[in-house]
Amino acid sequence: MSAASAASSVSARLPVFPWDKLEPYKATAAAHPDGIVDLSVGTPVDPVPEVIQKALVDAADSPGYPTVWGTSRLRDALVGWTERRLGAVAMEHENVLPVVGSKELVAWLPTQLGLGPGDRVGYPRLAYPTYEVGARLARAEPVVYDDPTELDPDGLKLLWLNSPSNPTGRVLAEDELTRVVAWAREHGVLVFSDECYLELGWEADPVSVLHPDVCGGSYEGIVAVHSLSKRSNLAGYRAAFLAGDRAVLGELLQIRKHGGMMTPAPVQAAAVAALGDDAHVAEQRARYAARRAALRGALEAHGFRIEHSEASLYLWATRDEPCWDTVARLAERGILVAPGDFYGPAGERFVRVAFTATDERVEAAVKRLA
Ligand SMILES: Cc1ncc(COP(=O)(O)O)c(C=O)c1O
Repeated sequence: MSAASAASSVSARLPVFPWDKLEPYKATAAAHPDGIVDLSVGTPVDPVPEVIQKALVDAADSPGYPTVWGTSRLRDALVGWTERRLGAVAMEHENVLPVVGSKELVAWLPTQLGLGPGDRVGYPRLAYPTYEVGARLARAEPVVYDDPTELDPDGLKLLWLNSPSNPTGRVLAEDELTRVVAWAREHGVLVFSDECYLELGWEADPVSVLHPDVCGGSYEGIVAVHSLSKRSNLAGYRAAFLAGDRAVLGELLQIRKHGGMMTPAPVQAAAVAALGDDAHVAEQRARYAARRAALRGALEAHGFRIEHSEASLYLWATRDEPCWDTVARLAERGILVAPGDFYGPAGERFVRVAFTATDERVEAAVKRLA
């Protein structure tokens, strides 16, 4: 086998990168005389809050290597935030671990956990595509679920929860989370709960798996994944973290130290500032709430039905037609959305509409839908 074919055999394990399929529709939307309104990707567009920028700049003189576990100030901030915002109790530094972006974590977690052929990784039927990518990179078997407790626990080594959900915005109620955590513990299945939209609830108040009503005050077998990308407009900084089972996090810390997965020191300082400030989160939430209401109204008036969407940065919308027909129809009006089948075949009659666009672009979309 040549060196090039050895490398390509890894990419061959992965799904086709779906966004390339959207390019022709992007070109159509971009041809609109007033420009494209791109609602296809959930990427923040508003400024990084001043308090965070200042912390980053103040830490610009960071010549030495940072550590994987982070500064003790960062660990204090992570512990403080999980207790204050998630209601977690008795958190210690051993219960937290900074990571360089949660996408990177999702993609490489099964590999870092030592999963491989014969092991199974479960995730929701409609899901952020990187859960599957992570399983495939490790040569583990990806399995989708409607209700995780209906999965065969045999060989199931990792179970992903995602509440609020990307793409549907659905929130798992406290009793559902409690039931799943109890089931997973009974069967020795490790739960990773991706909660990166937790602070973006609109018609629901999302609960963390770390809340004592869900986990009984013990973090055994559970880890929550959080990201500052969405709540603090920090997608460009790559700042995320894990919180939960100390044995699991201790093992990951050992592995990641060898792999050099260090959050840059200025980003660690910025994360401390971000986690200590709730004002910018409230301000950003207000921006999204207004954009969400405007787009929701315009889509409904245009004949869309919105399902779930009680939290997150997306509206999960359908015209009860194939998603690519909807994508094409909206592209003609200069609006680009993500087809639901990017998130699994079950999404084939939905589109995902992100409300991460400026007020000016959202207003343009509303006019075009009228
Ligand atoms: C469910 C979910 N998890 C993780 C991520 C990754 O976020 P980040 O890598 O910016 O922390 C995203 C981003 O869209 C997401 O939707």
